[in-house]
Amino acid sequence: MNKNNIAIVGLSWGDEGKGKFVDYLAQKADIVVRFQGGNNAGHTVVVDDQKYKFHIMPSGALLEKEVVIANGLVVDPGVLLEEIEKIKEIGKTLNLKLSSTAHVILPFHKILDGLEEQAKGKYAAGTTKRGIGPAYADKAARWGIRIYDLVNPDLLKEKLTRLYEIKKKIICAFDPNWCDNIDEIYNEYREYGDRLRQYVVDTASYLNMQLDLGKKIIFEGAQATLLGIDHGFYPYGTSSNANALGISPGTGVPPRKIGTIIGVVKAYTSRVGQGFFPTELHDNIADQIREQGHEFGTTTGRPRRIGWLDLFNIKYSIMINGIENIVISLLDALENVDPLKICVGYELEGTKLSSWPIQPEIVEKCKPIYKDFKGWKSRSAKEWSEIARKGYDALPDEMKSYIQAIKEELNVEIAMISIGPNRSDTIVLKDDLL
Ligand code: IMP
Repeated sequence: MNKNNIAIVGLSWGDEGKGKFVDYLAQKADIVVRFQGGNNAGHTVVVDDQKYKFHIMPSGALLEKEVVIANGLVVDPGVLLEEIEKIKEIGKTLNLKLSSTAHVILPFHKILDGLEEQAKGKYAAGTTKRGIGPAYADKAARWGIRIYDLVNPDLLKEKLTRLYEIKKKIICAFDPNWCDNIDEIYNEYREYGDRLRQYVVDTASYLNMQLDLGKKIIFEGAQATLLGIDHGFYPYGTSSNANALGISPGTGVPPRKIGTIIGVVKAYTSRVGQGFFPTELHDNIADQIREQGHEFGTTTGRPRRIGWLDLFNIKYSIMINGIENIVISLLDALENVDPLKICVGYELEGTKLSSWPIQPEIVEKCKPIYKDFKGWKSRSAKEWSEIARKGYDALPDEMKSYIQAIKEELNVEIAMISIGPNRSDTIVLKDDLL
């Protein structure tokens, strides 16, 4: 096992609590790298009782670790600059490298995101409206604007003007009154470029050089495997490979150097946006778990949809990522729910399926097969912290059975367990990962 580097990826629909484990492991790392997505992600960080929300900045910036926004991202420069200022306001030293080949989200990408969603009808994913899909679409069409263009005003002017002329025609087909001012966009983005220039490097060369020097790197996934563009629940996902397979194209780090891949499993399932969700709950249990788990989107504030843990689709994610170790988050948020259910398979027209069917049109017809588990009673935040301090043996017996069932069903090792929001509310079962 390559113990120098770790990748952390979500195994369901996002919001599994990846940030907390990245934060925990980042203490031992030198560099934290984001490799895909954009400011559609979100994590909340608490410093001196004050909550800060970040969307594009890699976790680890507040630990004053070196952070890298690699080439696989689409970057909204205005949002990135706001987050840079926030880090400085908190009084932290920022050590950021921004890839010259990451792509830029432009104002018309955000407009198109909304218009395309309307046009998609029942196939709309319920996006964050941050322009993620349209920016990745321009990247794939090979007329996207990269960070290198952003920081070179002449290139920016030429490429932006050409792109704008096309986008204007498309947007006006939906909304004839749309008229944005190209000079305003250019001036705004040229200024962003001026302010970001100091951070821009070829991050692929930089990261490979750091790896050769023996630096420890964490690859921080955003969103999660089932939202991934190639191996997710298409079209109800995002536009990047939100799994470990996205690391090499998203960073320029070759696969053999990536290291251990850790999958994050939340003790139940949540989802934002559209798309059939087989284990979804629509009753007061969903409300209870949503409140106990604070399941409201960091990026959009939307209440998240809640359901039972689905180990059948997580098994698929385990296969895609090649996972041998998982961490389990938010077990405390299931307190006082009894009985608990875990989905261990799907039935389609009376037949038990052998693997997750991936195709939404098939998943929609499936019925989850559940196993019941006894729940555990509620405790105060202080009591959960005390249990975490004592370690695994101090967990309620019912919780241990629930964890054991996850381990056996997925055939993986459990590396860490989280039973509260603080860094210290983490029980580490394998401390030789990094
Ligand atoms: P987009 O990434 O904004 O294009 O949204 C596409 C889909 O991914 C929508 O269903 C979003 O709700 C979902 N999504 C995007 N980012 C996140 C995230 O960080 N957590 C959970 N869902 C996300």
